[in-house]
Amino acid sequence: MAKINKIGLLTSGGDSPGMNPCIRAIFHEAENHGIQIVAFKRGFAGLLDNDCFVMTSNDVSGIIQKGGTILLTARCEDFKYDEGQKEGVKHLIENGCDGLIVIGGDGSFRGARDIADRGVRVIGIPATIDNDIYGTDMALGTDTAMNNIIDVVDKIKDTASSHERTFIIETMGRGSGYLALMSGIATGAEAVLIPEVKFDLEKIAARLKKRYELGKISNIIIVAEGAATAYFTSRQLSKIAGIVSKITVLGHFQRGGSPSAFDRILGSRLGSAAVLKLMENKSSCMVGLVENKIKTSPFDTVFDNKKELGPKLIKLAEVLGR
Ligand code: ADP
Ligand code: F6P
Repeated sequence: MAKINKIGLLTSGGDSPGMNPCIRAIFHEAENHGIQIVAFKRGFAGLLDNDCFVMTSNDVSGIIQKGGTILLTARCEDFKYDEGQKEGVKHLIENGCDGLIVIGGDGSFRGARDIADRGVRVIGIPATIDNDIYGTDMALGTDTAMNNIIDVVDKIKDTASSHERTFIIETMGRGSGYLALMSGIATGAEAVLIPEVKFDLEKIAARLKKRYELGKISNIIIVAEGAATAYFTSRQLSKIAGIVSKITVLGHFQRGGSPSAFDRILGSRLGSAAVLKLMENKSSCMVGLVENKIKTSPFDTVFDNKKELGPKLIKLAEVLGR
């Protein structure tokens, strides 16, 4: 094993609950091996500005239950270009970092791979509520976001059934229907619209009408933002079949709050694994959770493959929503 003295660390892209438990685990695992953590603030933006500090145990004390990221996060256009990447690598070397851990999503891993290509060892940790990263069954933050969603949907169901109304609820998920689909299954939604499956609002309207005839008057329809907006869905149902509906757009509420037990444990496992992988000389790869085991996947494999929802889960949501 190559001796490592210092590891750089940053969180990048959209924040997600579980980042803080992960940062804490990275610090403690590193400390356990006599390694220092140099934390860069605001993701790649902090790497470019050389805005960093050497972490102490005080920095990670009392953060395991906190949502968001204590290191702050950002999106940094300059890092997509040669000049920015060179500057970032220069700052890692100046600070004596023998490696870097990047906690973030697919975009952040592209930046991470660019750094690895310039000779610094880099490990990625998947963190996004969208759960759209190949090479891990679950990304950090997805479980907490789903719990946030079902909390709201359950409450809306109370008022929906009392007033015999139809509600359209819009979840996050730019290109992925994972949050919408799983929340639909978990709340017994009557329909789920996701970007992965072509939907037919005429068919959905006909099904709602049939339910109406059977005396089932309240409905929950969950729409992933990547499939359609709640406003569009509501307008179309009204146009097609005169169905009146109320709208809730969940927004950034989904990404906040204390990480669930699952996300705390996942963050702790992945954080520890990332430090150990760097010590084993691994680079340009992501640590993920596959069948409850930590698995390492090269960044290129992560980029070249699409994470699929799977037809069985899509079918399940359909069958249970009848
Ligand atoms: P996420 O990591 O959540 O997918 P983004 O796609 O916004 O979030 O990416 C986060 C950051 O990663 C960007 O602001 C940029 O600094 C860096 N990044 C994204 N794409 C690339 C790329 N193709 N090359 C280098 N860096 C990138
Ligand atoms: O990628 C995570 C995510 O929360 C998406 O689901 C959502 O579309 C996007 O980030 C929102 O980004 P922003 O915080 O920049 O509005």
